Amino acid sequence: MSSYLNVTQLNKSYGPTAIFQDIDFSASEGEFVTLLGPSGCGKSTLLRCLAGLTSVDSGQILLQGQDIVPLTPQKRSIGMVFQSYALFPNMTVERNVAFGLKMQKLAAAEIQRRVGEVLELVELNDYAKRYPHQLSGGQCQRVALARSLVTQPRLLLLDEPLSALDARIRRHLRDQIRRIQKELNLTTLFVTHDQEEALTLSDRIVLMNKGKIVQNGNAESLYTQPADLFAAGFIGHYNLLTAEQASLLTGERYSAQVALRPESVQFCAPQQGVPAEILGHSLLGNVIRYRVKAHDVELWVDVLNRSPDDLHPVGYQVGLLLDKLTLREVA
Ligand SMILES: Nc1ncnc2c1ncn2[C@@H]1O[C@H](COP(=O)(O)OP(=O)(O)O)[C@@H](O)[C@H]1O
Ligand SMILES: [Mg+2]
Repeated sequence: MSSYLNVTQLNKSYGPTAIFQDIDFSASEGEFVTLLGPSGCGKSTLLRCLAGLTSVDSGQILLQGQDIVPLTPQKRSIGMVFQSYALFPNMTVERNVAFGLKMQKLAAAEIQRRVGEVLELVELNDYAKRYPHQLSGGQCQRVALARSLVTQPRLLLLDEPLSALDARIRRHLRDQIRRIQKELNLTTLFVTHDQEEALTLSDRIVLMNKGKIVQNGNAESLYTQPADLFAAGFIGHYNLLTAEQASLLTGERYSAQVALRPESVQFCAPQQGVPAEILGHSLLGNVIRYRVKAHDVELWVDVLNRSPDDLHPVGYQVGLLLDKLTLREVA
């Protein structure tokens, strides 16, 4: 295999506890790959192993064809950004960013040039002389990003870099990271537990659960073809029906559980579809998410909020139209 990054059969345990097992995935040059999974599934440990901050028990990490497992973190040329920024509090922005280059003993003029360039890239030139305590969370994270970028890493690892920030800043920095990553054609592994972040940012998503890779593909394929029950539950807000429940609603026979997306069900007049009753709703901005009951089966149904006519009270009788093509059996 000639991928830029190739991870094969990677394993890590702490004592008797397996943290991750048989991890296989790759990334091509310039690709933005997201490791997505619930808290505790082993994402951070995997990133730390790639960076060399934690040792692996077995397996290979090929970066540009070279196995980096035996190398110290310094020799790997990998940049890592943490959720907690990890800036030096007693150093200005400029000196935080310059730190890695000073360790490499580069000439002062070269350091100054590169620090200037990268501060421009993250739009922090005006903050060069400030200290971390004089910055917002989003600005601190941009300093952390700059500090990684300035070393011109072969691979950038981002461990939930947006999780500590409020929603508006999070979206802005997310777009900024993606823009910079594309501009530099920097191969990037981004860790998150947030499915929306993963779906909007990534070229490809590697979905993890309990230390194993569950599915690997683009956002579209993860969303429309969940590999198993876990994937169906974690990505989007699927309705998971037993085979019997699905048969009750459609009249067809199924041999496994069935996943049905809330947006794949439409309302119609009660006599024109499966009769159902509204149990409640929540307003998600442009979408109304209904809880409905049909044949004793409870379902989520998402409806676009176009006019007051789209809002139905509890107890209201509707008909359901199910698009059978969107029902998927999952193992
Ligand atoms: N140094 C360690 N010693 C023992 N167990 C650890 C250590 N670091 C992480 N773990 C355990 O490994 C599991 C995965 O942790 P982590 O990689 O941080 O998951 P995630 O980043 O997906 O939330 C957790 O159960 C955690 O308690
Ligand atoms: Mg983590």
